Amino acid sequence: MKTGLLLIGCIYILSLLPACVSNVEEELYPPETCDTSQVTYSLTIAPIIEQNCFACHGGEATISGIPLEGYDNLKTMVDAGRLVGAVRHLSGFSAMPKDAPQLPECKLLQIEKWVNDGAPNN
Ligand code: HEC
Repeated sequence: MKTGLLLIGCIYILSLLPACVSNVEEELYPPETCDTSQVTYSLTIAPIIEQNCFACHGGEATISGIPLEGYDNLKTMVDAGRLVGAVRHLSGFSAMPKDAPQLPECKLLQIEKWVNDGAPNN
């Protein structure tokens, strides 16, 4: 009986442990240490879009009707001036990702850097 309780106690404490380790990128790498010096489409931007936007913008037949998969599709939205406004939640734009928290500041800075660089296919 005592051993059983001890075991349950141990499992309970173990289950709490992961909460002590922060996986939130923004807390681990606050914006002031955000690296925007090596932003590229393939290594920085495409993964952000894939992880946060493909649920509705992946493939050609998307839920949103706006494909963002692949450079050409994303560039079309950049050229239309819709990308930064949407992820920055500026007025006049649909806030993206839809029905989800805004992207971490560092990712926003990286997207803006890439767009300001002319959104190169690098
Ligand atoms: C849950 C679904 C969903 C997710 C996730 C999502 N979008 Fe959207 N997005 C939509 C829908 C639907 C629209 C069409 C406009 C509307 O209904 O608001 C849209 C529209 C847009 C537009 C056009 C906005 C405008 O004002 O012209 C852009 C740009 C965009 N999304 C970018 C993104 C980006 C970048 C991400 C990821 C960071 C993202 N979306 C994540 C559903 C989504």
